[in-house]
Amino acid sequence: MIEEARRRALELRRQIAEHRRHYYLENAPAISDAEYDALERELAALEARFPELRSDGSPTETVGGEPGPEFVAVRHAIPLLSLDNAYDEGELRHWEQRLLRALRGPVPRYVVEPKIDGLSMALLYREGRLEGAFTRGNGVVGEDVTPNVRTISSIPGQLRRPLARLDLRGEVYMPKPAFAELNRLRTEEGLPAFANPRNAAAGSVRLLDASITASRNLQCFAYELAALEDASMPATHGEGLALLAELGLPVNPLNRACADLDEVLATLAELERRRDALPYVIDGAVVKVDELHLRATAGSTSKFPRWAVAFKYPPEQARTRVHAILVHVGRTGALTPVAELEPVVVGGTTVARATLHNEDEIRRKDVRVGDRVVIEKAGEVIPQVVRVLLEDRPPEAVPFVMPDHCPACGAQVVREPDEVVGRCTGAVCPAKRREALLHYASRAGMDIQGLGEALVDQLLARGQVRDVADLYRLDLETLAALDRMGHKSASNVLAQIDASRARPLHRLLYALGIRHVGERAARVLAGELGAARVVADAGEDLLTSVPEIGPKTARSVRVFFDQPDNRDLLARLGAAGVRTEALPGERTAVRSTPSGPWAGKTVVLTGTLEGWTREEAKARLEALGAKVVGTVSRNTDLVVAGEAAGSKLDRARALGVRVIGSQEFAALTEEAS
Ligand code: IVH
Repeated sequence: MIEEARRRALELRRQIAEHRRHYYLENAPAISDAEYDALERELAALEARFPELRSDGSPTETVGGEPGPEFVAVRHAIPLLSLDNAYDEGELRHWEQRLLRALRGPVPRYVVEPKIDGLSMALLYREGRLEGAFTRGNGVVGEDVTPNVRTISSIPGQLRRPLARLDLRGEVYMPKPAFAELNRLRTEEGLPAFANPRNAAAGSVRLLDASITASRNLQCFAYELAALEDASMPATHGEGLALLAELGLPVNPLNRACADLDEVLATLAELERRRDALPYVIDGAVVKVDELHLRATAGSTSKFPRWAVAFKYPPEQARTRVHAILVHVGRTGALTPVAELEPVVVGGTTVARATLHNEDEIRRKDVRVGDRVVIEKAGEVIPQVVRVLLEDRPPEAVPFVMPDHCPACGAQVVREPDEVVGRCTGAVCPAKRREALLHYASRAGMDIQGLGEALVDQLLARGQVRDVADLYRLDLETLAALDRMGHKSASNVLAQIDASRARPLHRLLYALGIRHVGERAARVLAGELGAARVVADAGEDLLTSVPEIGPKTARSVRVFFDQPDNRDLLARLGAAGVRTEALPGERTAVRSTPSGPWAGKTVVLTGTLEGWTREEAKARLEALGAKVVGTVSRNTDLVVAGEAAGSKLDRARALGVRVIGSQEFAALTEEAS
């Protein structure tokens, strides 16, 4: 029992860490907020049942993502906590009961505020001037994004009164119309669209070029007065908000004072009704204790204040009609049905398509052309069809049948017994070709920015490119002659294509789009076998002898390179100057049984290391056999602390873990290799 719980807890921690990375560092969540919350809740429940599973630094006790390596890390004067969630009235009442127990007597008043889905920000004013703006980071250490935030017009550079010092919290967000416009432009330029306004806001604030931030039309609402010098703190949060407004800061006019929980519930319902019409996305409302002295009595857990809770609204839904069901052919030939919808606004963006996943899903939901359907944005990422409104079904609607021939090339479609999708068997299917090019150019692949759908479609239609090797023969003239391509964009794309020649081998192996070879498998193959030619020539025995490579992947690699076209493609890529061999550092990166002074050591990196990016330092350590982890515990062998190292350094010192700096790190790793 406990073993099973331990395994599950480990798995949950791994998933949570991964999703935090997607969300906070890459600004690209892979699952919906509700799905993420469910993971955290399951872990918290396990830890409550089996206290021995609690570990230092468990995600149940920490907030957010680590600060990214591109920005200067700054320790917050006052930590930025996260909020506990409530999903319905029952959970909200529970929260209040816990609060009342902590208060032992006094009954608080509340303030309800829209919970804007943006990026939380700590702002610091001194002598009335905006001096600093910091992201939340992990709650203790954030990133200094001051130059970028100065470009946000609703954040005053100068307060109306020159207080000695004012610390406040607010949410930077992108209004729905600005978000729609930004994505329209990005799509036109062949850049990936942002999944939702929150990611767009976070991506725009965490840019290295403040002039781009300035063009993004960001806004802000101030929601917490954190500290004040020169004037006494007000007695209530409501007065604090009034003071912020008086000083010229933007305060949400929809914030409401409520005398008790019933009023809170009525306010929450009212806000939910208005939600869709608001010019910004809200994912819920925040309920806060009004009296500051009661907040102090209630206190906080390591992660949440007891005096506030986020009330989450269910994902936004809308009703619309299915015009058509199209079948999309992916890179691997997989056929995916997609519903073409009468455009409808959901969660602030116009939705005209929704995925129907696969044949079984379509059958289960029985979606037909002409049906009226309920659609929902799963975490505001990919719209889904939730259900059909059967009462509105037109009499002539017939069940949808997946085609048995590829809609793009006419080749036969085959569905393997153990698979949920049918695949096109055509060797030269144009749809597969298109997706193969897009995959090759994708961020995790060869990262050729600007080579998006619009461009790929034109290049294919004009016959200028047939496969990925042809990309390296493109010239400026050809590119500049395409629709919506100026000379400047053309030369940018060309520079990107050129830069892709030098990408590490594992990216090339991934970018080739071999089935079952994801990023991890590509990394292992590149690290162990060291050259694309070796991978291409390896028998299944050699392939399965590589750690983590199973028979399915091995077989698929063989099938891929047994095709003469694919061997030819690899040869042409090599001839075009694309790197097909791993550099020495990349080779050893996944050695299965490393030896030497670093082998098996658990190392934590913190702060900015002089001369190294976080990635490089990590790769270096892993190449030497060390395990790089995110949190300092008694099991940590060494902490490498750079500039502006924060809580991890403190913790290492407290636990007596050995700490070294950038230079010592460079010297030690040099010695070891
Ligand atoms: S109060 C300790 N008020 O929601 C108090 N947060 O899940 C912390 N948010 O990180 C936050 N609107 O980014 C507060 N009116 C509001 C908010 C708000 C949005 C965000 C904020 C925070 C997250 C918590």
